[in-house]
Amino acid sequence: MTLRNYDIAELRRLDVAHHLPAQQDYRLMEELGGSRIITRADGCNIYDGDGNALLDGMAGLWCVQVGYGREELAKAAYEQMIELPYYNTFFKTAAPTTVMLATKIAELLGGNLQHVFFNNSGSEAVDTVLRLARYYWQAKGEPNRSIIIGRVNGYHGSTIAGASLGGMKAMHEQGGPWVPGIEHIMQPYPFGEAHGEDPAAFGRRAADALEARILEVGPENVAAFIGEPVQGAGGVIIPPETYWPRIQEICRKYGILLACDEVICGFGRLGQWFGFQHYGVQPDLVSMAKGLSSGYLPISAVGVTDHIVETLKAKGGDFVHGYTYSGHPTSAAVALKNIEIMEREGLVERTAKDTGPYLAKALAELANHPLVGEARSLGLIGAVEIASRKGTNERFGAPGTAGLMVRDLCIKHGLMVRGVRDSIVMSPPLVISHAEIDRLVDTIRVALDEAEPQLRALPAAA
Ligand SMILES: Cc1ncc(COP(=O)(O)O)c(C=O)c1O
Repeated sequence: MTLRNYDIAELRRLDVAHHLPAQQDYRLMEELGGSRIITRADGCNIYDGDGNALLDGMAGLWCVQVGYGREELAKAAYEQMIELPYYNTFFKTAAPTTVMLATKIAELLGGNLQHVFFNNSGSEAVDTVLRLARYYWQAKGEPNRSIIIGRVNGYHGSTIAGASLGGMKAMHEQGGPWVPGIEHIMQPYPFGEAHGEDPAAFGRRAADALEARILEVGPENVAAFIGEPVQGAGGVIIPPETYWPRIQEICRKYGILLACDEVICGFGRLGQWFGFQHYGVQPDLVSMAKGLSSGYLPISAVGVTDHIVETLKAKGGDFVHGYTYSGHPTSAAVALKNIEIMEREGLVERTAKDTGPYLAKALAELANHPLVGEARSLGLIGAVEIASRKGTNERFGAPGTAGLMVRDLCIKHGLMVRGVRDSIVMSPPLVISHAEIDRLVDTIRVALDEAEPQLRALPAAA
């Protein structure tokens, strides 16, 4: 492979002049002189145009399960593009890879989740969940059931529907009005919101907030509950084991659809193909994206349970929903090959039995660091909470100060991670080795050591 020779300084200038990157402060981007230009990647490493190599502790954006540089995936795309690069599913038509991928996803989902609707992004998958949930209740003759309940600090994407269902304060503060008929309940965030409380009891308490809200708005008005098995973008919030079974119990009690947003948790992240399988619950709708194709091409899907599809069939008529690229044959070919690689290399099992526990052990040691309030993980997703006083969840200075500082120091020392408020979150490729996990955790330790004097010099948080 010959590497292309880019003029990085010129690209950064053009980046400021013409490119609006996702979720950024454009004035800050100008002050910084443009984006870091990532020019190539292999395995678990990314390389920027200034010659820096970084260990990718985020698998891109929680998505590159099989790591970078997989020729098999490039070949799958190439072969499909030669044969049939594109066709749609609007005209009572489908491409072979589209059907094969739906079948494979149904197999991985198991149980009654035997139907799959394709989209391009996680946000679009969430739109599909919303439309399908509401249409299902109309088709069943209960059109009043339109309310969808999500959670504070949940993340379901950036389209209007995704942002409305999500509980991200910063998003809700920009724009609106949002999609009506959406409610948010508390999140199951033990470190942030129940420090010192018995986790099992807190898990039940957080889930009971769903029942309270259902009763408040009237069960006859509620269509569905949606949640990420583990909240990713919200800061890797791992609920107590009591949480999801209780949520399921409440949904069943009131006949409400249970939707799991598996855009991050799906495809092995928690050590099972899907997060709901880890928690032992049976959702009616499952959104997925990211790891489905390891991010090599955009594709997302929604797993739909038999009884929903049977209801739509009984009603008859079109489900008037779908995208030009729903079931894109090339994206589907890449996703199929990606799943084949994951199965062949046993990446899901390895996450559950080997690398996941290895990361957990390394984080448990890091938890002794004087700046660490909690270091938690499940499978290959984790977070390190920075606290100003050991044994508390008190922070340094204004919210987010420590997270940003430590995140920047991690990058300086060659590790790409993300700061969410005052935690450092990680979600490395599922192919990560023990040595790379050691490097990941050691680099966070080095960054914490370096940040400590500056953080201790800050005035106490209000
Ligand atoms: C749980 C969840 N749902 C939906 C989305 C939106 O996915 P996309 O950015 O592909 O639209 C994300 C993205 O991070 C996510 O984490």
